[in-house]
Amino acid sequence: MAKGTTQHIKVRNLRKVYQVRSGMFGRPLPLQAIAGVSFEVEAGTTFGLVGESGSGKTTIAKMLMLAEAPTSGAIEVGGRDLTKLDGAARLQAYRELQPVLQDPYSSLNPRMRVGQIIDEPLRIHLSLSRHERQARVRELLDLVGLPSDAAERYPNEFSGGQRQRISIARALGLNPKCLILDEPVSALDVSIQAQVLNLLKELQQRIGLTYLLISHDLAVVAYMSQRVGVLYLGELMEIADADDIVRRPLHPYTQALISSVDSRGSDDNGKVVITGEIPSPINPPSGCPFHPRCPRAEHRCTLEKPVLRQLASGHQAACHFAEGFLQSYTKQRLARDQSSAESSSSPNSNTEVTT
Ligand SMILES: Nc1ncnc2c1ncn2[C@@H]1O[C@H](COP(=O)(O)OP(=O)(O)OP(=O)(O)O)[C@@H](O)[C@H]1O
Ligand code: SF4
Ligand SMILES: [Mg+2]
Repeated sequence: MAKGTTQHIKVRNLRKVYQVRSGMFGRPLPLQAIAGVSFEVEAGTTFGLVGESGSGKTTIAKMLMLAEAPTSGAIEVGGRDLTKLDGAARLQAYRELQPVLQDPYSSLNPRMRVGQIIDEPLRIHLSLSRHERQARVRELLDLVGLPSDAAERYPNEFSGGQRQRISIARALGLNPKCLILDEPVSALDVSIQAQVLNLLKELQQRIGLTYLLISHDLAVVAYMSQRVGVLYLGELMEIADADDIVRRPLHPYTQALISSVDSRGSDDNGKVVITGEIPSPINPPSGCPFHPRCPRAEHRCTLEKPVLRQLASGHQAACHFAEGFLQSYTKQRLARDQSSAESSSSPNSNTEVTT
């Protein structure tokens, strides 16, 4: 497969409002699933989108996969705005952005052989002979680490991890430039998750793919991504490089996500624990959308919505007190540097133990 065909993605002020009915005869109410989200994915890198259930991750994925039309905003891929494409250009964009979905058990047709499943998009979208398609199916199976005789078998003869490899092979068939990975490992055993994630990393390096990786699991997102966006109630709370967001989260929601997976997240600003459920986007809270669950909330948070703003190079957060968190990380780092300098210059620090 050709390398170097990836494309930069720019999402600009994306909004999605659904109209939902409260009952059979109730009037439709607007549900703002995505409330103005902007981010960029550099070509050949992974942007990880993390957030709990209902935060809007799949809605963003669907808009990128052209399965849902945005209410407003732009999705630029390689300089073209997907929201304005039609006809052949839209079909081409559809081929370039392929999904790998969460559940490899339900996303593969149990009545089709694996070879037919991988062949289906090739047959529909490419003008290849039967022989060329069969060769391509074998090539794709090999690429994802499955033997060529897998083509003759049915999905139920494979484990969850192998089924996700089949889904990945199918997604790669049309030579996409970007994969939209919506919870690609959350249905798998923890022991298998790393194998599939490592396969995705390897494929990205070999083919030069761009990934939008969606997960509720910050550990998965941080392992895979160069940049991370933290989504809550349809809005980005924080965006930063993956290592930066783990080292110094500047939003209490991110701090809570880190505290839940890694005790290191609690060292700097105390363990942040949140309870309760994400509120309904039909009736979002006033002020900061996170205030009803935020352990650091103050009165101001109930009234005033914090702006997502740049706080350090490449690091944005939407919390009134983010500057204070940043200062405390800086102070703690200076204190650590000072104490390690003092210990290395102390007369006993290099004393050799002699017997
Ligand atoms: N077709 C739809 N009609 C109405 N509301 C919808 C529709 N699709 C999603 N929603 C609502 O939009 C919000 C975001 O849903 P979405 O599926 O994007 O969340 P998610 O972050 O992917 O959650 P999960 O982790 O559970 O998959 C939810 O409140 C959901 O109920
Ligand atoms: S603005 Fe207030 S409620 Fe919102 S995250 Fe910051 S401290 Fe919490
Ligand atoms: Mg989802």
